[in-house]
Amino acid sequence: MCGIVGYIGYRSAIDVLLNGLTKLEYRGYDSSGIALHNGKHIDTYKAVGKLSNLKDIINPIKSELDKSTVGIGHIRWATHGAPTTINAHPHTCNCGKLVLVHNGIIENYQELKEKLEKEGCVFKSQTDTETVAHLIAKEYGKLHNLTEAVRVATEKIEGAYALCVMHQDEPDTIVATKRNAPLVVGIGENEFVVASDVPAIIDYTNKAMYLEDNQIVTLTKNSMKLIDKDNHELKGKIEVLPWEPVALSKMGYKHFMMKEIHEQPSIIRNLLSGKITGLNEPLNLSEVKLDKDAVKDLNRIQIVACGTSLHAAMVAKYIIEDFCNIAVDVEPSSEYIYRKTVTDKNTLVIGVSQSGETADTITAVRQSKEKGSHILIITNRPDSTMARYADSLISVCAGIEVSVAATKSYMAQLVAFYLLAIYIAEIKNSADKELLKRLKKELIVLPEKAEEILSQETPIKKIAHKYANSKNFIYIARGINFPTALEGALKLKEISYINATGYTAGELKHGPIAMLDETLPVLSIMMKGKVYDKILSNSEEAKARNAKMIALTNVTDDNLKDLFDDIITIPETDEYLSPILAIIPLQLIAYYIAEFLGKDVDQPRNLAKSVTVE
Ligand code: G6P
Repeated sequence: MCGIVGYIGYRSAIDVLLNGLTKLEYRGYDSSGIALHNGKHIDTYKAVGKLSNLKDIINPIKSELDKSTVGIGHIRWATHGAPTTINAHPHTCNCGKLVLVHNGIIENYQELKEKLEKEGCVFKSQTDTETVAHLIAKEYGKLHNLTEAVRVATEKIEGAYALCVMHQDEPDTIVATKRNAPLVVGIGENEFVVASDVPAIIDYTNKAMYLEDNQIVTLTKNSMKLIDKDNHELKGKIEVLPWEPVALSKMGYKHFMMKEIHEQPSIIRNLLSGKITGLNEPLNLSEVKLDKDAVKDLNRIQIVACGTSLHAAMVAKYIIEDFCNIAVDVEPSSEYIYRKTVTDKNTLVIGVSQSGETADTITAVRQSKEKGSHILIITNRPDSTMARYADSLISVCAGIEVSVAATKSYMAQLVAFYLLAIYIAEIKNSADKELLKRLKKELIVLPEKAEEILSQETPIKKIAHKYANSKNFIYIARGINFPTALEGALKLKEISYINATGYTAGELKHGPIAMLDETLPVLSIMMKGKVYDKILSNSEEAKARNAKMIALTNVTDDNLKDLFDDIITIPETDEYLSPILAIIPLQLIAYYIAEFLGKDVDQPRNLAKSVTVE
């Protein structure tokens, strides 16, 4: 979380920085700030809340600031210290000459702070970052060289950081460095943009250099020097980014989330294209770099992920175990990394992440790689840090997801997992051939069925509005749609702040049933298949406790009207594939409730899209 950007060149720095921060706002929006070097001194501007608050401060004085061509900017997701103006970046040393922005967490900041305080530094903020400003300033006092000061100071830091630093006495210099946090330098003609992520630089150049850990880059208007932590000069690897400038357009939708929900049918189509070439042809998944014998030898799959990606992984467990006869463990990355995990050379470790930058998942993947497992990464960002650990890489190509609540990336991850499960099952010959054929045939028509759901939003919207003022919500399901219940509940929590929980329907009676009364809606996800009747019985149990009952089903049955207050019907599909369709109405319900309640749908409070701290 947090996004940083720096600019040095010939343009108005404020324009580039504000544009960059707009593109990075998905990384946090508690506060923002900018520092500009005007040739003589550095001025900083900060605001609490959304970036628009900073723009409101800057716009009336912008013409005075336009002449600055060097500056750094920050968008914050608070870790240490509340989101206040004082805690907003950029942070400065006591004399105010050194200014920096930081993404990450300085783990030994307490220890460093105590030492710096003893040496006379006065801290203004509650952040870990301010420690680094004082630390570098101290070194600068001795070395009078910003690059050297950064190099020596960062040796004393433990934790994760991406930093952009300026000093009043070096008006034509930005120094940037990183460890366990992303940083990319965009290289233009007589200008450089350094940022946490590509969208902030791509409007200016498609030539870029990704910094490796502990590398330090010194940028002037027309030069770039890269060194390692021992001050050896390096030749950086300059890449041409396969990116177009990113136009963040809602395409007529009120929110990005709604636009992204509507992109799902075409995302499924794109992902399937070239993969299923014929029902009798083996599925083509050349992204998997394990040879056939290694696939046959797989005895265990461990999937690590967080948030919505974790729910996609949970669906994968059902299909991979059923089709491939391989034991699958799914675990939140943040748990996986703090215990002994048993792997051997026949274990495949899969990291799933929309952003490819989630710190916990990166750590889980790194640990597994060190242990020698084959690493498969499923991500929407093939240029991400996580993708760099991949032995096999499935890029889900869902396009930039702006809304903090993930929708289309979840869909893309699900489809990727279906392809993977079928691919492995065909190599292992571990599933009924007719079943696999049927699933391939059905996958191809799923985009149309998804479009059908999206073309019939009005009844879903009505139901959403009817229950919008509920304080709590329960989603129940069994089997392969249990993760759908979790994901539906997560969507509602994230954007409406309603306390929504997903349960396996069978567990309802073991505790949660005590909460039920006439104020509590229970949404039963009941797809045609082997657990349909079981969920029906569990729904009866809930109804008997006066809960308000909503059905999400693909079964047409008049009897349901007696049991349920409201029914959402979606097109029928194979039970195995039903999570792909079942999630869409749940995304819509969450959206319409949040919109009805006037919540900030695309940027819900307290969240960030990319969580780059553990
Ligand atoms: C954050 C986001 C979630 C996301 C999770 C994992 O918490 O708010 O929407 O599911 O990170 O992100 P990843 O990029 O790894 O899928």
